[in-house]
Amino acid sequence: MRLLIMIPMLLSALYGDFITTDEYAKMLYKNPRGIGCDKCHGEHGEGMVISIYVKDGKEYELKAPRINNISMKKFLAAFKKRSDLMPEYYLTTEEKAHLYYYLTKDSKKENSDEN
Ligand code: HEC
Repeated sequence: MRLLIMIPMLLSALYGDFITTDEYAKMLYKNPRGIGCDKCHGEHGEGMVISIYVKDGKEYELKAPRINNISMKKFLAAFKKRSDLMPEYYLTTEEKAHLYYYLTKDSKKENSDEN
């Protein structure tokens, strides 16, 4: 009898969610089967300078834009168009939704901290 009671507990320990949605979404952002989004767009999608180059004696910054304050439509569109700078990813709709969740969740937090 005691064993029967333990079975669901064992099953949930074996197959249950080991990580939360938040953890999963963050993991995906840093390791989306390719170079991590954070390497170019910053830790929380705040955008960052990827590199600085000099052309004709003038300094230019190569930037990855801020992506934690854009619409879902704009976010998804970025995966459809070809870019010279951003790598191509093969992510499922669910994965993209998690990435968007991760980014906008943090952006809301940041904004509320500021205000
Ligand atoms: C090698 C650097 C690099 C990596 C890695 C990268 N991006 Fe980008 N991304 C860019 C650059 C640069 C742009 C600006 C548009 C362009 O040049 O294509 C951009 C544009 C975008 C845009 C469009 C922003 C807008 O305002 O329209 C989104 C959304 C985006 N990236 C999301 C992601 C996500 C999510 C990941 C990870 C799965 C990622 N990027 C990985 C460099 C990168």
